[in-house]
Amino acid sequence: MKTEIKQINSFNEEALKLFNDKGIGNAEKVRRIMQLTHDLASKKFSDLTILDLGCGEGVYTLEAGLRGARVTGMDGRDNRLRFGKEVALNHGLNNVNFIVDDVRNLTYEKYGTFDVVYLLGLLYHLDEPEIFDILKNIYSVCGELLIIDTAIALSTPITLVHEKKEYYGVKYIEHEEGDSDDLMINKRIMASIGNNKSFAFSKKSLVKYLNELGFVTVLECYSPIENNKTESRITLVAIKSEKEKIASYPWLNDMTEDEISNKLKSTLVIPPFALKHQYTFKAKVKMLIDKWLAKRGYELKIKLKDK
Ligand SMILES: C[S@@+](CC[C@H](N)C(=O)[O-])C[C@H]1O[C@@H](n2cnc3c(N)ncnc32)[C@H](O)[C@@H]1O
Repeated sequence: MKTEIKQINSFNEEALKLFNDKGIGNAEKVRRIMQLTHDLASKKFSDLTILDLGCGEGVYTLEAGLRGARVTGMDGRDNRLRFGKEVALNHGLNNVNFIVDDVRNLTYEKYGTFDVVYLLGLLYHLDEPEIFDILKNIYSVCGELLIIDTAIALSTPITLVHEKKEYYGVKYIEHEEGDSDDLMINKRIMASIGNNKSFAFSKKSLVKYLNELGFVTVLECYSPIENNKTESRITLVAIKSEKEKIASYPWLNDMTEDEISNKLKSTLVIPPFALKHQYTFKAKVKMLIDKWLAKRGYELKIKLKDK
């Protein structure tokens, strides 16, 4: 168990007003991220390096900084970030550093590595195909934990193929063609930078890609509780680690995730309650056919979207 002196310093009135103006719904979000960092990072705050991508005014950057972590807050909008810089300055937080940069410029060569990376409220403001490379670069700068808070697609009209694997999600419009820079950069301060449309992964596809990158364990957070969290908004913790080899089923160790999934189709057991409620008619028929074929060494080429 990590031991840490719980010395929570406080922010001045001006800073508290800045955070409150941002919306009180944010309170539970900040609590959740600090708790996850405390509980899941291998070191105590004061020994951690943290990168907060798309940090906005830097509420997470500052909160972690107050706990002694060496934190870099990065955002493409100086007009948000400068408020955070001011707070850091006023509180003498020399361990906190704010950088104006586009997450597209994030590379291991330019920034090195951080124990923990926060990707909070930014992922769904990025578009495909670059979203794949951006996540890959985030993986390369991440030492142990990536904490993601993001909107996810609940319907999946878009299929993307990246490195021969399929991912599903939805695209949405953030800026219209011809919108002024002033509108896009200074007025829509929460929105995307440099892309008019953005792509949101489904939860399953996002987890699949994180796993492909090498975040072997991906956890979803339910507690600390966030009262306003809807089904389309999730917090994930992706842990960078080595895959465990298992002795009890050694055949599994050298297979890809797709190979494992195909092998397991023949052993699929569909509980009666799931048959009744959980799947569409098409999905149920496909599952039964898949199971029948897999037992005979074949597979059906028609793919239903696995959200
Ligand atoms: C919804 S806000 C989230 C802010 C903060 N992380 C939070 O949760 O309070 C999204 C932030 O990402 C920033 N952003 C959007 N696209 C970006 C990009 N390509 N590179 C860097 N920052 C970006 C925006 O300026 C904005 O501050």
